[in-house]
Amino acid sequence: MTSPVNTPVVLLGGGAREHALAWKLTRDGATVHVLPGNGGIPNSHPDISATDFPAIQAFCEAHDVKLLVVGPEAPLAAGVADFFAGSDIRVFGPSRAGAVLESSKVWSKEFMRRHGVATAQAWQYRSDRMSQARAKAAELGGQVVVKYDGLAAGKGVYVCSSVEEAEAALTDLQAQHTGWFSFLLEEKLIGPEISIIGITDGNRIRLLAPSQDHKQLLAGDQGPNTGGMGAYCPVPFCDDNVLAAIRRDIIDPTLQGIQHEQFSFKGFLYFGIMLTPEGPKLLEYNTRLGDPEAEVLLPALESSLLELIEATLDGTLARTTVRQRPGCYLGVVLASGGYPAAQFPTGFPITGIDQLPPGILAFHGATRRQGGQLVTSGGRVLVLVGHGQDLEEAVAQVYREAGRVQFQDVYIRPDIGQRPEPTVVFSEVR
Ligand code: AMP
Ligand code: GLY
Repeated sequence: MTSPVNTPVVLLGGGAREHALAWKLTRDGATVHVLPGNGGIPNSHPDISATDFPAIQAFCEAHDVKLLVVGPEAPLAAGVADFFAGSDIRVFGPSRAGAVLESSKVWSKEFMRRHGVATAQAWQYRSDRMSQARAKAAELGGQVVVKYDGLAAGKGVYVCSSVEEAEAALTDLQAQHTGWFSFLLEEKLIGPEISIIGITDGNRIRLLAPSQDHKQLLAGDQGPNTGGMGAYCPVPFCDDNVLAAIRRDIIDPTLQGIQHEQFSFKGFLYFGIMLTPEGPKLLEYNTRLGDPEAEVLLPALESSLLELIEATLDGTLARTTVRQRPGCYLGVVLASGGYPAAQFPTGFPITGIDQLPPGILAFHGATRRQGGQLVTSGGRVLVLVGHGQDLEEAVAQVYREAGRVQFQDVYIRPDIGQRPEPTVVFSEVR
């Protein structure tokens, strides 16, 4: 179905991912209202929270909106798709049952096991079984990953390299959470990581380009984990062979699992994958677009996202194709000094966005208006996205221009898209 021009859409969320979604849907012919949005996203409504479903419903009715697109995980986990089920407002995003693939690490690991999805070995514990977990971590020489069973805004995963680190992770986990909780100990895998994100109706999936995030704060993948400091797509070493193995070992069993368990899943599905010498292994599902992956994937997508979304909801995804623009897209995050600590100063004036050349997109992540001035309002302030014929050209373009945008204590990770090519990626599909 071709979307009529000016299709009204409500988009939930307020970061750079949502700015990229709003930008793309607008190009596709939608009139996009963003709840709550932020200081740099046109048509933002800061007074309406993305989890206030009655207020969202009232807004949709007042503006004759019949399509709701969900950016972040919180409204999905809170059941936005279930709230609107049966109404004439269609939601692009999974039901609460589908969102559990992301919101519970224990449940999603069990789902992977039930359906034969390739993943790391894991052991599940409750918080009253700490001593057993400590013994298991010691048995594995501390080469473990500790994962809290819940949404933790990227702070619930500890990657350990020694028994001491594993001990410290378990101690910290206990200090962070009161009452009962569950967690996983996972074998630690080695290899390059990629993000594969698709649009699915639970039966079929249409994949966007493979992309790569950079989660650590500092160059060389050092320092604390962040929400993501930059991304690029496509990934040169993620060739057809690698993609075929990912489809066979991870994506196809996942779709079969969703069909078998019969939960409604219409939305973005994100596979966080590690390419180990034994083949691809799934680290996690997210039930939404990645951030900052979205900021490069959506400019790279030539096809209409609005049409793909409507086809998903209409049950006609099989009739669609996904066309990508040639070349490579790279995005770097302009972060506040001090991020990702719990507290750091914000409210600094931002200058120079209007100095960027037309080839660079500036997606706002954490900005607000103060009087007539745009100021910082959080950790990941802006994402600047450029394009090149290849990765090197995209890197050169973005880093050449990024210095034009200034605010006090701005930090940019200097090596986005510059990791050395991985030496061994399994080369044959078994
Ligand atoms: P997750 O939220 O499960 O994706 O974990 C966050 C990050 O921790 C991933 O992006 C990986 O870098 C790392 N990680 C998660 N699981 C493993 C694992 N089994 N082995 C090695 N690293 C992992
Ligand atoms: N970029 C990783 C995420 O969105 O979870």
